[in-house]
Amino acid sequence: RAQVRSRKKMTKLVSKTRAWKKVAAHYKHFKDVEMRDLFDDDKKRAEKFTINLDNLILDYSKNRISERTMKHLFRLAHDCHVEEMIQAMFRGDKINTTEKRAVLHVALRNRANTPIYVDGKDVMPQINEVLAKMRKFSEAVRLGQFKGQTGKKLTNIVNIGIGGSDLGPVMACEALRKYWAKDMSCFFISNIDGTACAEVLNKIDPETTLFIVSSKTFTTIETMTNARTCRKWLIDALGEHAVAKHFVAVSTNAGEVKKFGINPENMFEFWDFVGGRYSMWSAIGLSIALMAGMDNFERMLEGAFAMDRHFAETDLEHNIPVILALLGIWYNNFFGLKRYAVVPYDQYLRYLPAYLQQLDMESNGKFIDKDGEVVNYSTGPVLFGGAGTDVQHSFFQLIHQGTDIVPVDFIIPAISHNEIGDHHEILVANVLAQGEALMRGKTVKEAARELTKAGKSKQEVKELKLFKSFSGNRPSNTLVLKKADPYTLGMLVAMYEHKVFVQGVIWNINSYDQMGVELGKQMALNILPELQGNASGIRHDSSTANLISTIKRLRK
Ligand code: F6P
Repeated sequence: RAQVRSRKKMTKLVSKTRAWKKVAAHYKHFKDVEMRDLFDDDKKRAEKFTINLDNLILDYSKNRISERTMKHLFRLAHDCHVEEMIQAMFRGDKINTTEKRAVLHVALRNRANTPIYVDGKDVMPQINEVLAKMRKFSEAVRLGQFKGQTGKKLTNIVNIGIGGSDLGPVMACEALRKYWAKDMSCFFISNIDGTACAEVLNKIDPETTLFIVSSKTFTTIETMTNARTCRKWLIDALGEHAVAKHFVAVSTNAGEVKKFGINPENMFEFWDFVGGRYSMWSAIGLSIALMAGMDNFERMLEGAFAMDRHFAETDLEHNIPVILALLGIWYNNFFGLKRYAVVPYDQYLRYLPAYLQQLDMESNGKFIDKDGEVVNYSTGPVLFGGAGTDVQHSFFQLIHQGTDIVPVDFIIPAISHNEIGDHHEILVANVLAQGEALMRGKTVKEAARELTKAGKSKQEVKELKLFKSFSGNRPSNTLVLKKADPYTLGMLVAMYEHKVFVQGVIWNINSYDQMGVELGKQMALNILPELQGNASGIRHDSSTANLISTIKRLRK
């Protein structure tokens, strides 16, 4: 605790510390080292830089690192008190400093059920109570015991939420599609664009639909507007009484839920110590439990718990989230690589990059550190991605031959949920080839040799060889999962959560607020009355003022 406190008082930017400077000095003489040579020089490189936990294996050998690099980076993590901060989070300390809140998504999956205290109160009983309520409700819906207004089984689940109240459920529901109840479907409405609502409502039948209004605050304009539209649609079809049978809420705000007209009995609670983008483990995951079953939801919690134990109990040198975080810092802050891609080679995991975008960029896209100082180093990278092999045919040209290097995380399950013909072997061959190609590249000489072998003339070889060459030395991690089952999904997501945490600790930023999303929201509220014909009295810049009048004119 004393060390955590001393970290809080530390006003020195991390970039001014001895450990940071040592990494910087090491970078200077290591930056041009070729991974090809590192592999040639050390036959045990892959073994040295591979680590596994249960059925999740991380091979980080295709990174521009040596054992010395890692040593410097571990020192940096140690000097930034990563170990103490991990304990502080698990203990329930208020590490969300600006909002003065504990950060306890780990409590949601604390399968050991050991007490965790917030303000002197053990939070586990309330967490267990909500989990039990989720089980009872999801089983009743799945078995057709909790029926709609007209006595029909509720087979269409519609989650209305946005950001953390949408991306986790969307990603996990899709990831676990193979586990869905056969007679059920699920839909997600997040965007305020009326099209999002209209397209879902066109597909479903009010008599068999259950709406879950998911919102931590229950005040988010998109969610509340969409919820009101869906409520009206339901009432128009089935009458006011139907709301109690067709609407449930997941929120921390019981007052607003009641005001909306949802029976408090149909409300699933969660708490301020769970951040929106860390909430899929709470009742925000109700759609996951409804679609894949509560047993599978709990398997997901167990997987996350296994990663939590690993994270909290393993030394830095063998700690998967810590290693991933340090590699990210190595590239971002020392190589100056400000982009980063996540590419799951699994169709069911295709929404993982979108989920990680919020997790990473909303957590660590910040320029003020915890001591209120403007940082002089870069923090969260731009994260993007998509499913392989699709993205090989979109942005991979840039990943291989672009002027900027983009470190990649490849994710591949060894066993597919759909073993059809040789699809999966082709998929695996592709992901492994991408990592190898990025690492090895192709020299101009190699390209020339290949062209000659293919029968090209001397002139053609001369003209083409540079275009056909690849600089290589481009880093990637490969994460192999035995199978993308609920347990492994839990591990994977928790691994990324903790990676983001470690980076936040090293950058000394608060990863748990999101004040950067507020200004735009505030200004939209000023523009709205103007679009609706009422003067707001706000003076805009000429561009915004012109755009407002142009759109008004076009809408007439
Ligand atoms: O985008 C800002 C944000 O506050 C996210 O952090 C959050 O996940 C999302 O909006 C939705 O908030 P709520 O769950 O309160 O509706």
